[in-house]
Order: sequence, then C-alpha cells, then structure tokens
Amino acid sequence: MSPLPIQDTWVLVTGASSGLGRAAALHMAEKYRAKPLIVGRRPSNLEALRDEIRSRFDVTCEIVVADQSTAAGREMIATRVVELESPAALLAAGITSVGLFDTDRMAQYSEVIETNVLGFTDLLARLVVIFKGRGSRSSILAISSLAAETSVPFQAVYGASKAYVNTLIQAVSTELASTNISVGAFVPGGIDTDMAALSDLRWGKLGLMNVDKCAALAVRAMVEQRSFAVPGVSNRLTYLASRALPRSLVSRLAGLPYRGPR
Ligand SMILES: NC(=O)c1ccc[n+]([C@@H]2O[C@H](COP(=O)([O-])OP(=O)(O)OC[C@H]3O[C@@H](n4cnc5c(N)ncnc54)[C@H](OP(=O)(O)O)[C@@H]3O)[C@@H](O)[C@H]2O)c1
Repeated sequence: MSPLPIQDTWVLVTGASSGLGRAAALHMAEKYRAKPLIVGRRPSNLEALRDEIRSRFDVTCEIVVADQSTAAGREMIATRVVELESPAALLAAGITSVGLFDTDRMAQYSEVIETNVLGFTDLLARLVVIFKGRGSRSSILAISSLAAETSVPFQAVYGASKAYVNTLIQAVSTELASTNISVGAFVPGGIDTDMAALSDLRWGKLGLMNVDKCAALAVRAMVEQRSFAVPGVSNRLTYLASRALPRSLVSRLAGLPYRGPR
C-alpha cells in the first residue's frame, strides 16, 4: 500500500507538549509538510512548539489545550478533528507511575488508568467513528511500549496499561481490516524523554533511544498504516525474546534497569 498522503492535511498529535509527541509534530511538519493539530495540558509548551514549527518550517499548527483523562477534553479534541478533517492521528499522550506496587500510590494509579486506559479508549473510539463516518483513507497510531510485552516491575500499573493498549489495538485493527482505516500500536523501549528521566534508571540514559529518531519511525509507521511496529534492532530483539523466553524471566530482566524500592 502507498503511504497515506498527509501533506497539507491536519494530523492530530496528542502528548505534543513534550517528548515523543513534540518530536513527532516537528518531524511531520518538516518531512511531510503536514499541519500538526497539537494537544496537551500545558499551553506554554504547545505555544512554543507552534511558534517553532512556524518559524523553522513555515507550516501552520493549531493548539488544543485538553486533558485526555476528562470527557470534556476528549470532546474538544474530537470536535477539532471533525472540523479540520484530519486523516491521521498519532496518540502519544501517556503517563507513568514509578515505584513498588503498594497502596500509597492509588491516586497515581487512577491517573495512569484514567489517561492511558479510559481516556485513551474513549478518544480512540471517537476517532474510529469519525473516520468511519467520513469513509476516506485514514490512520491512527497509538504509542504503546515494550512494557506491554515484558511487564515492568516498579512500573507495574504503567506496563499493564500499555498491555491493555496493545490488546485493544490488535482487536480494533482486525475489526477494521476490510476498511481503509488503520489503527496500529507503536511499541518502543526506553526513549530519552522526561518520562524516562522520571523512571529512576540504574544506568541513566544508556540504552535509551534518541527521541527524534524514535519520532521519525513513529510518523513513518503512521503513514504506512502499520498495525504493529517495534522501532530499532535492540527493541525488536527484546520483543522477540519476550515472546520466546519464560514470562517470569522476561519480567525479571525488564526490571533490571530500575533501581527498585527506595
Ligand atoms: N519515554 C519512554 O521511555 C517511553 C517508552 C515507551 C513508550 N513511551 C510512551 O511514549 C508516549 C510519550 O511519552 P514521552 O516519553 O514523550 O513522555 P513525556 O515527555 O512525559 O510526554 C507525555 C505527554 O503526554 C501528555 N499527557 C499526559 N497526560 C495527559 C493528559 N491527561 N491529557 C493530555 N495530555 C497528557 C503530556 O502533556 P501535558 O503534561 O502537557 O498534558 C506530554 O505531552 C507515552 O504514551 C509513553 O507511554 C515512552
């Protein structure tokens, strides 16, 4: 299949106020001349990104300040996708919770589940309905994680939330197989972003993927309408190992980069 043409179209990018979403918005503006519809909760970060995209690439960019964990926020995002007739979406918004699984972090777990699971599910459903109603070719790429495949001690709820994303995306992708709408999961390992910095990693940035490289591969997976993509050789080897080795061993290995309980 030829790549989805996104030049001069509006592409939804959630999680655009930092990290992978931000880098993806920059990349699609520079390489594809697509107009990013950027979403996050921090207006100043989004305004800085919009100004950078305009000044560096002379590409228009629009901002939606919205919280994915609220119905009102998701409604704002979906409304703009309809109005701007976006044919593609890269869903990078997500949060983690770091530490030993216990009762003290229930508020954080709720936030992770409301954002990565409940909010994500509702936004995905809204986008699928919008794209189906329009009937033209379109692509949705969800940024998941290798944590979905390995389970991750000390980020247990986050890993579980991403396992949910992978399972959901696989099923919806199969449901949509006979249409011209694709949904896919992009499954990176560690990326050098604020989220990784929060994770209290034993070896610092060692082994983390460069965010711009990862973003370029994510945008490519979106335009190629991939249903599942693991970026980079070492991540692909980790993914294959997670399928071949006993689950308990995979999970122990996945926990090694974390310092563990403090
Ligand atoms: N970093 C890694 O090692 C890694 C590895 C695998 C997968 N990932 C995935 O990659 C994606 C991007 O993460 P990142 O590494 O780029 O981390 P990041 O820099 O912390 O970016 C997370 C983004 O999500 C947005 N976000 C969080 N909660 C939100 C909410 N309730 N409503 C709207 N936006 C929200 C944040 O924006 P606001 O705070 O402005 O709302 C921010 O733009 C995530 O889905 C993450 O799970 C990351």
